[in-house]
Amino acid sequence: MAKPVKIMETVLRDGHQSLCATRMRYSQMEPMLESLDNVGYKALEAWGGATFDTCLRFLDEDPWERLDKLKAKLKKTPIQMLLRGQNLLGYNHYSNDVVEKFVKCASKHGIGVFRIFDALNDVRNLKVAIKAALECPEKPEVQGCLVYTISPVHSNETFVELAKELKEMGCHSICIKDMSGLLAPYVAYDLVTKLKAALGDTPVELHTHCTSGFGHATYIKAMEAGVDIIDCALSPFSSDTSQPCTETIIAMNENSKHEKIDIPIEIVNARDESKKLDRQALTPIAKHFLGVKQELIKEFGLKGYFDVNVNVLDFQIPGGMLSNLANQLKEAGMEDKYQDLLDEMPRVRADAGYPPLVTPSSQIVGTMATFNVMSGERYKMVPNEFKDLVRGKFGRTPVAVDKKFITKTLNIPADQIIEDCSVEDAKAETFEQFKKEIVDKGFLNPTDEDVLSYALFPQVAEEFFRKHYKKIEAYKR
Ligand code: CO
Repeated sequence: MAKPVKIMETVLRDGHQSLCATRMRYSQMEPMLESLDNVGYKALEAWGGATFDTCLRFLDEDPWERLDKLKAKLKKTPIQMLLRGQNLLGYNHYSNDVVEKFVKCASKHGIGVFRIFDALNDVRNLKVAIKAALECPEKPEVQGCLVYTISPVHSNETFVELAKELKEMGCHSICIKDMSGLLAPYVAYDLVTKLKAALGDTPVELHTHCTSGFGHATYIKAMEAGVDIIDCALSPFSSDTSQPCTETIIAMNENSKHEKIDIPIEIVNARDESKKLDRQALTPIAKHFLGVKQELIKEFGLKGYFDVNVNVLDFQIPGGMLSNLANQLKEAGMEDKYQDLLDEMPRVRADAGYPPLVTPSSQIVGTMATFNVMSGERYKMVPNEFKDLVRGKFGRTPVAVDKKFITKTLNIPADQIIEDCSVEDAKAETFEQFKKEIVDKGFLNPTDEDVLSYALFPQVAEEFFRKHYKKIEAYKR
């Protein structure tokens, strides 16, 4: 008996998000959807915060419509989305009814796997989204995430405790979400071994990036330790700051019998585990996406590749954000301060209680570090989001932030420190309030989907509505 491992394919989401600024259009996906559907992937990741935002902001596509079109073509393979718990896809915390409405709506439009995470690993921020997803009549898979990071307070043991909590909350599977590629191969071996021992039958999935160069090796060790699913990207959108390569991983495990490993690993068809995943069937699909990548690089003036940088282990900035930060400095004429910025990141992160760096904490810490470097004086200018992070508005930071830092250095009054973030969430705008806001702007009778798009990205959604007024229900009367 071989150990079966399934692949979750990211070419439609994280692959182009990591290498091509999330610019892939639906029309560029469409020709290969049927072929992708036939491969036998465990799921196809196709939706998330950046895809939603980019659809509205740059690609002139309605993200809900894209999801409908994908669902119509992907009849056998579940569509997966990445959801930031109480943050949904935006940068704020939303009220519970907005979270519930969003999850229900996404499920109705065809999301088959909800991968849910919180940037601070604060389970209070996951409760509402997980419960809502579990209650969807379409019965989607609900996956809880451990947001992986390295710090003096995170260990494989603390991650296992978190995973057990997620399982207790009803999650069907657990994902190790390693957004910056920090998980080293032997650490992955240990973590997966411990998770498998603690979680029983609950499938364990691993998501990594090749930013530090660990990616493929990390998957090998994770597979040896019994990981059930790994996230890979088809070759043109793999490696660098993206996922390990689907075809390479399959090829690596062809004839994996080796005296040093107890059980050979087999990359299997998720719909029929007696069949292996067919590497040859991927060649024409990869060829198509290579062409798409070249188109995107040309149209949007992108670089399309990134150098391996093992120093990511220290500054921990997710791939997509590095280029943004470099740009910000360039625009301010301070390109030479790039290294100072990378050095400042871990210091700011420590001051903020060692949050894992993933949207939105990565942007918040990144912007604070940029301000510190550009102004030449630490915490002279402090963005509100950073104040919110340290005073607990987004949840509990892994380490409690030093009170003196909050009140003295940042001048935040002590009575603004928040112990229970869910109390704050309850004060957030409700679905009906968002709806009233768009109606007041002249978009009469908006659909629930319109309201949700607006709640998540108010300005871009409004612009999108104006442009497409003929297509929007609201303008028909
Ligand atoms: Co990722």
